[in-house]
Amino acid sequence: MADQISLKNIGKTYGTKVKTTVLQDVNLTFARGEYVAIIGQSGSGKSTLLNIISTLDRPTSGEIYAEDKNLTELTENELARFRNQTMGFIFQFHYLLPEFSALDNVLIPYWIGAGRKPPPDKVKLAKNLLERVGMADRMYNKSTDISGGQQQRVAIARALVNRPGIILADEPTGSLDSQTTVEVNKLLREINKDFKTTFIIVTHDRHIAAECDRVVEIVDGRIHKDYLTSGLEENKKWQDLAPVYCRESNGDCNTAGMCPSGKETG
Ligand SMILES: Nc1ncnc2c1ncn2[C@@H]1O[C@H](COP(=O)(O)OP(=O)(O)OP(=O)(O)O)[C@@H](O)[C@H]1O
Ligand SMILES: [Mg+2]
Repeated sequence: MADQISLKNIGKTYGTKVKTTVLQDVNLTFARGEYVAIIGQSGSGKSTLLNIISTLDRPTSGEIYAEDKNLTELTENELARFRNQTMGFIFQFHYLLPEFSALDNVLIPYWIGAGRKPPPDKVKLAKNLLERVGMADRMYNKSTDISGGQQQRVAIARALVNRPGIILADEPTGSLDSQTTVEVNKLLREINKDFKTTFIIVTHDRHIAAECDRVVEIVDGRIHKDYLTSGLEENKKWQDLAPVYCRESNGDCNTAGMCPSGKETG
């Protein structure tokens, strides 16, 4: 279990001849139970950062620590094991296996980690999780026979099956309609509260960002702002988010988050 993940002086550069620097001097610490949004314009480096936090991608410079363990020193196999035991993933597209039932899909991270058939207590846990995400009556349906919102619920249950301390989500509601977005967002928050799971959520949805406890804003691959939203007045919260979601904002977003210019981008 990793109660704390720290990034120290992280940099990421792509290419050898022509170099593109995507992240620079990133220093961040995430504590157990935090509910954090990573926001920024398209191309600012959000997904790259999330991939590095998740150890799916390696930084060009700097280190990542889980407590005192330097993850940048681990081999690919050690990292794969660490990820499987410590982290859950939710993506914009759920990547459920089409030929398998919802229940089997939820159990896949267990199969991968343990390399064997799930024992009855794991199957029970998977069923409980499907119940938890409102999918109790669809658990034997093939993943192709349920709606997009239901598929994302199954993907959330799958992210939880190894009881990870951290969930990393890249646009988890990016392909959902607005009503389902509200429901899924509510569900993520409940899981965060009930299991004390850390959530790091990359989002283009300013309503999701506004509900996070902490907002990390990236501009051109650098941390531009990193602040707690608790205690902020509603108006201030929306004003802080406005420049990311509305290029023409002059900070006059109102309490409901409506942009008077009507030029919001997300
Ligand atoms: N494999 C790669 N090779 C070269 N450049 C890359 C690679 N992956 C990403 N980039 C560049 O890194 C920058 C940041 O990309 P990233 O996907 O992290 O942005 P993002 O903030 O997630 O954007 P979006 O909101 O559109 O998803 C972009 O300019 C992108 O073109
Ligand atoms: Mg992205």
